[in-house]
Amino acid sequence: MKDGKKTMAVYPGSFDPITNGHLDIIARGLTVFDEVVIAILVNPDKEPIFSVEERYDIIRETYAGDARVRVDTFSGLLVDYAEKVGASVIVRGLRAISDFEYEFQMALMNRRLNPRIETVFMMPAEGYSYLSSRLVKEVFTLGGHIHDLVPAVVERRLREKYGAPQGAEPSRRDGT
Ligand code: PNS
Repeated sequence: MKDGKKTMAVYPGSFDPITNGHLDIIARGLTVFDEVVIAILVNPDKEPIFSVEERYDIIRETYAGDARVRVDTFSGLLVDYAEKVGASVIVRGLRAISDFEYEFQMALMNRRLNPRIETVFMMPAEGYSYLSSRLVKEVFTLGGHIHDLVPAVVERRLREKYGAPQGAEPSRRDGT
């Protein structure tokens, strides 16, 4: 709360799919800001596994009942979207040095485009530092376990879309 006004941050991304690493950043964002708007980029150039509508539904379900988290979609410039919804902060997660260059470029470009919007970086829990949507997709389609990496709704939707890949069921010691 600042000057009696709620503070709002935009957390933009592709979220294809949302992972527990994203959830970690959103939880951290909520310790600093009153409200976080998860803004899904509508990007016609990319071939996603989940459509924008599906990603929207997945995130809505993940945060059902949490009035501090809003879900939305956007196209065009991120800073224009942030300005439109009344947010003065963009939150991005920084997992590793490898993220830094791209994020640094985006943050400075966004500042150049609109100096009133500040980018805030947050570091996820160490356990998520290797986690990405791309790896989740790869691990799932190759039959690996993604149980602890994504919200339950994502795993369910992936199974509905692709079926349970071989080896995706946790094996039990007695072989059943
Ligand atoms: O999850 P991602 O794919 O790393 O998110 C990237 C995103 C959505 C933050 C970025 O592509 C973006 O902001 N796109 C909107 C277009 C824009 O504003 N471009 C100029 C800023 S560099």
